[in-house]
Amino acid sequence: MESASANAIPRSQHTVPIAILDFGSQYSQLIARRVRERRVYCEILPHHTPVEQLRALGTRGVILSGGPASVLTPSAPRPDPRLVESGLPVLGLCYGMEILALMLGGRIDRGAMREYGLARVEVTDEGEIPRGLSSFPAWMSHGDSVTELPSELLPLGRTEGCSFAAARHRHLPIYLLQFHPEVAHTKDQGKILNNFLFNICGAQPSWTMENFAARAVQAIRDQVPEGTALCALSGGVDSAVAAVLAQKALGDRLICVFVDHGLLRAGEAEGVTRDLEQGFGLRVRHVNAAAPFLERLAGVADPEEKRKRIGAAFIEVFEDVARELPGARTLIQGTLYPDVIESAGVGGPAATIKSHHNVGGLPASMGFHLVEPLRELFKDEVREVGRVLGLPESVLGRHPFPGPGLAVRVLGPVDRETLEIARRADAIFVGELRASGLYDQVWQAFAVLLPVRTVGVMGDERTYEQVVALRAVTSTDGMTADWARLPLDFLGRVAGRIVNEVPGVNRVVYDFSSKPPATIEWE
Ligand code: XMP
Repeated sequence: MESASANAIPRSQHTVPIAILDFGSQYSQLIARRVRERRVYCEILPHHTPVEQLRALGTRGVILSGGPASVLTPSAPRPDPRLVESGLPVLGLCYGMEILALMLGGRIDRGAMREYGLARVEVTDEGEIPRGLSSFPAWMSHGDSVTELPSELLPLGRTEGCSFAAARHRHLPIYLLQFHPEVAHTKDQGKILNNFLFNICGAQPSWTMENFAARAVQAIRDQVPEGTALCALSGGVDSAVAAVLAQKALGDRLICVFVDHGLLRAGEAEGVTRDLEQGFGLRVRHVNAAAPFLERLAGVADPEEKRKRIGAAFIEVFEDVARELPGARTLIQGTLYPDVIESAGVGGPAATIKSHHNVGGLPASMGFHLVEPLRELFKDEVREVGRVLGLPESVLGRHPFPGPGLAVRVLGPVDRETLEIARRADAIFVGELRASGLYDQVWQAFAVLLPVRTVGVMGDERTYEQVVALRAVTSTDGMTADWARLPLDFLGRVAGRIVNEVPGVNRVVYDFSSKPPATIEWE
């Protein structure tokens, strides 16, 4: 389901000390996270953002991201040409370096010195930006490179394959790096970004989640001066944190809605009640809507079709709830910054791999006034806000759970019976992970029920039953993931319990796929 904030331009409610101009790099969000980890607020903006807009945002420094284009093509994206002379400190990374060098009159060649992977940078002129570094491994990923520096630029470092791995302008605060300081493989101990942010831009490390939470509560009060607001709880971290912030701002003027679509994990609905109603005094309206969801899903095997039907059913149920509360015209949503950037298409269009259905993502046509208190935050920042607000680790540390729930973990058509099999297998796997202290070591772990029957033997009897796949991955943001190296004894114990305790399953397999090429969920 499309989020109601689709196509909204990322809007800033406060100054943006560091702007990241996005040329479509897969690392743009990573750059932003690295800046924010240093307690400096930053936003990702379109690559052509005009200098006046940057000034209006109070920007003190600009980072040009990498990007997939070649600066040698006529349509190569460029920043505002006035950026170079603006006096604003600029750090160009990879494509960002190449486009700056080209704009300053340098020469770029394709394939002359391509590098992918680790290279060692030898610093030839320490200057301001590699300050404190003489030689360090750095992550390279470029096909084009600068082969002649324009006269205004001074070389600062080289690698075996690249004569100009780093450079700076002679008079202006402009710095160019061919490598990616934002990637963990670059072992500069964060010095380069620190030098840029604090020494060159003079940024202050004042972006803390305590400050954020206090400001967000006031902002919600300002945005909802009267009347009732609704907040759809999904059981996940984002909607829980949004709801608790809204509760602090609005008190009894907030009504939370928890839709049980029958696709939840074991104990989920009760968990939300316990943690949020009892713990924080939230008023939660529980809606049992398993029947309409299951009706719509009957016989549907196609994953995209399942996702779409769940999205449509959710709107219908929510509309019914909203009709019973005619005074509520505001909807609080836990939309996060990555969704805002993606729906605004800052870095260009990306292929739809899966239609994401977020329980809070109701369409604009419902006529609600939307309030999205977390729209500036990354997931790890939301968890930090949750800690500031005193939410228990049982809520904050929970593995992500997709909006369409177990429907995308029962492959093929779903019904009450197959959902129950998946739910029971999942509860055993997750319960064992918790009991073994492994739960917090993986990003996500769950059971998938496959629409495959295999032959087995139980107590001299032939069985012909279904297969459960166990999936556990490590990841930092869900964008890429690796299969988790869980101990074999542990997996053996889980498999044994599932076959013994869950009727209908006689075989368990483990998923060894990383993302890419697979995705985390199976559908
Ligand atoms: P994939 O399967 O695309 O999942 O690798 C990446 C992360 O997103 C979660 N996911 C969803 N979350 N609504 C959500 O809120 C959805 O429709 C949805 N589909 C997948 C998935 O669990 C993983 O953490």
